[in-house]
Amino acid sequence: MKTAEIRRRFLSHFERAGHTVVPSAPLLLDDPNLLFVNAGMVPFKPYFLKQETPPFDRAASVQKCVRTLDIEEVGKTTRHGTFFQMNGNFSFGDYFKAGAIEHAWSLITGSLDDGALGIDPEAVWVTVLDGDDEARGLWREIAGLPDERIQARGLLDNYWHMGVEGPGGPCSEIYVDRGPQFGPDGGPVVDEDRFLEIWNLVFMQEEITNVRAKDDFDVVAPLPSKNIDTGMGLERVAYLLQGKENLYEIDQVFPVIARASELSGRTYGADADADVRFRVVADHVRSGLMLMGDGVTPGNEARGYVLRRLLRRAVRSMRLLGYEDPALPQLLPVSKDLMKESYPELEVDFARIEQVAYAEEDSFRQTLGKGTQIFDLAVSTVKREGRGGLSGDAAFTLHDTYGFPIDLTLEMAAEQGLEVDADGFRSLMAEQKARAKADAKAKKGVHADTTAYRETLDAHGPTDWQAYTTLSTQSRVLALLSEGAPVPAISAGSIGEVVLDRTPFYAESGGQNADAGTISWENAGPGRGTAEVLDVQRPIKGLVVHQLRVLEGELTLDAQVSADVDPEWRTGARQAHSGTHVVHAALREVLGPTALQSGSYNRPGYLRLDFGWNNALSPEQLHDVEHASNRALREDLAVSAQYMTLPEAKEWGALALFGETYGDQVRVVEIGGPWSRELCGGTHVERSSQIGTVVVTSDSSVGSGHRRVEALTGLEGFAYLAKERDLVLQLTDTLKARPEDVPGRVQDLVARLRSTEKELERLKAAQLQGAAGDIAERAVDVDGVALVAHHAEGAGGADVRSLALDVRGRLRDRPAVVVVIGDAGGKPSVVVAVNDAAQDRGLAANELIGVVGGPIGGRGGGKPDVAQGGGADVAGVPAALQAARQAVAGATSTGAGR
Ligand code: ALA
Repeated sequence: MKTAEIRRRFLSHFERAGHTVVPSAPLLLDDPNLLFVNAGMVPFKPYFLKQETPPFDRAASVQKCVRTLDIEEVGKTTRHGTFFQMNGNFSFGDYFKAGAIEHAWSLITGSLDDGALGIDPEAVWVTVLDGDDEARGLWREIAGLPDERIQARGLLDNYWHMGVEGPGGPCSEIYVDRGPQFGPDGGPVVDEDRFLEIWNLVFMQEEITNVRAKDDFDVVAPLPSKNIDTGMGLERVAYLLQGKENLYEIDQVFPVIARASELSGRTYGADADADVRFRVVADHVRSGLMLMGDGVTPGNEARGYVLRRLLRRAVRSMRLLGYEDPALPQLLPVSKDLMKESYPELEVDFARIEQVAYAEEDSFRQTLGKGTQIFDLAVSTVKREGRGGLSGDAAFTLHDTYGFPIDLTLEMAAEQGLEVDADGFRSLMAEQKARAKADAKAKKGVHADTTAYRETLDAHGPTDWQAYTTLSTQSRVLALLSEGAPVPAISAGSIGEVVLDRTPFYAESGGQNADAGTISWENAGPGRGTAEVLDVQRPIKGLVVHQLRVLEGELTLDAQVSADVDPEWRTGARQAHSGTHVVHAALREVLGPTALQSGSYNRPGYLRLDFGWNNALSPEQLHDVEHASNRALREDLAVSAQYMTLPEAKEWGALALFGETYGDQVRVVEIGGPWSRELCGGTHVERSSQIGTVVVTSDSSVGSGHRRVEALTGLEGFAYLAKERDLVLQLTDTLKARPEDVPGRVQDLVARLRSTEKELERLKAAQLQGAAGDIAERAVDVDGVALVAHHAEGAGGADVRSLALDVRGRLRDRPAVVVVIGDAGGKPSVVVAVNDAAQDRGLAANELIGVVGGPIGGRGGGKPDVAQGGGADVAGVPAALQAARQAVAGATSTGAGR
């Protein structure tokens, strides 16, 4: 049975049983604790915790999941995949244990003709939590399972939670016996390869926190209602029903292995090591595809890093299989064709996905080239110094700077007979991971611990948020927080957080910066006061939290306050955010529809937009983008916002930004009708002309396959242009030229300057040559040696050398020593030249240079015939020349060398 068919059967089974079928959420969800969605229940978490009211009592989904903790295990076991699909049915306070067991049992053992999966009931085993007699009894009653096929296990195996704070509960897992050829008898407690877990039923009943280990955590409280969360591994069921031995061989994955085998000329199934590589390729290509499909782009932090690692491991595995050419263009389309039946958007987005993937492979191939050089260098140093291995530091640099995976370093080192300090490397990696995690946390919410926010939300309900309609509200203080904990008051000079019953402040989201403004009060008791709003966030859904600094007075709980957004700020913010949409539409107009936004940020006067594109934009393209943007301003297009469902919005062609989560109703912002349609919760101008102006100021690279344009809007754009005009004015003034003549004049000037410099050099050289004769004539005789000690004012290193050699040449008929010191740029440079006859008398340039160097604070070296050096102190030149004379006199009078 094809994987897509199992998926279909699962969903219709539960739809028939009154469940609402919910489409898979993107792999990226706004949860500060999760890098990726890693279980089917993640999108429903707010319903389990009753932070939000579920719109249905029962739901079913097939959720895309990514887990990369076990990435090293991929391909080595039969069960580890970094991407998988989790079929799940959910009850929110509706049915509980009995219902969950009934639904599961009828799907897995019901007949194929009835749309079920037709698994032999005799092959089914289950586990329950130690002491959960209720579940054991239900399995006996409903499924008729004999006691010996119901095994009890401890918390480690049969309690499920998210690994972080959140909902959890005892669980019951369903296993299928694959037969004696896969391992010993005795049920899942004995062997989890033969007895394959296919489905986990979680009886979700409490909220937990302080998760120290899988079986060590604190229970906060029972959940408001008893719920069901289940997870059936779609890939596992597929390999079971397709009679395959592992998940890499199912219909949705194997063709990638087949293609890799064709490309590499290696046979799958012939060699255990090669097989692991084939599986890594198939798994990673698919995970990479799905992540890129959901808008992740390769990078060095958090999510981007995971994707980068997956793609690079896939490419490297192909190389290790012997395929050296770009591999992704051969493999990615195969995976896309396999996955598009369940995820049609992959086909639609493939142009963008390809661009990202192939750029990453290109850059990795370069990396590999560069990294290999660095690796070779590190190895030769290690060998020269006689050390036994590569340091953790070196391995980390290779990994971090050159993108060299550690296993590649290990393998290449082993070939050289070297070890690698893997512990040192790992501890550096752990530090880096901790940093990445902290980064990911810092980006989200105000405090990672959301307890206090949740309590506020529970007590008072969601904030009445009026950012779209007003700049000023009369509000009541519902909660005050300091460092994430509730406080009764915040006094002058302190920073804290405040939650109001209603607010006009825009909380940072969708790339738009939070509003600035003030909160002020005038109550009778503690008197009046004001606070400056520093930041506004929405750390949990529904709750707006203002971070502020109290400037005067004391802000107390329950106070009546006036919350006022700075109108100037908001005007600028609206211009910048609408400007971002305009630039996005203009980019797509100029570059084509694959130039899709991958991120953005805007604040009053400034915007930046990241988008998928490989090459730097030419000046013409930038000009066209700026022109298309300003033309849209000039056309005075209407800007409007409307609410609709996500499918309606997609139908309408609205661009959805990845990584955002959208509720039932989405807001679509239009500029000029279809010209720009984006899902967006930001604040916008009413007509495009109100943006004032769009001035594109830069285009730069932000990682492979991505560019960033920056632009200024409104008065800031104008101010930027005015400043440029002032610069031009200064130039026209200095050059006494009209503005349009400035570039030509500057080019002329540069050309003239160059030729003048050349002429000057030529003259200087000629002059020095001419001087050489005079200087040689002024040689003094020191005991039969002709000595020249000359200060060549203004001469630099090269001139000093040629002068010294020239003078020595002119003195060829007798023993000669020539010392020339130049002082170009305020730095002495010395050349000592000694001819053969003088060397016969024991004089050597490389010795004399040492003597000369002393007084000018320098050193030098060379050979007996010529030596040269530099110094630091021009004032020492006369003394240096004097030292040279004395040294020559000393050497000749002692008769050395005669
Ligand atoms: N949430 C449960 C799991 O992931 C079903 O196993």
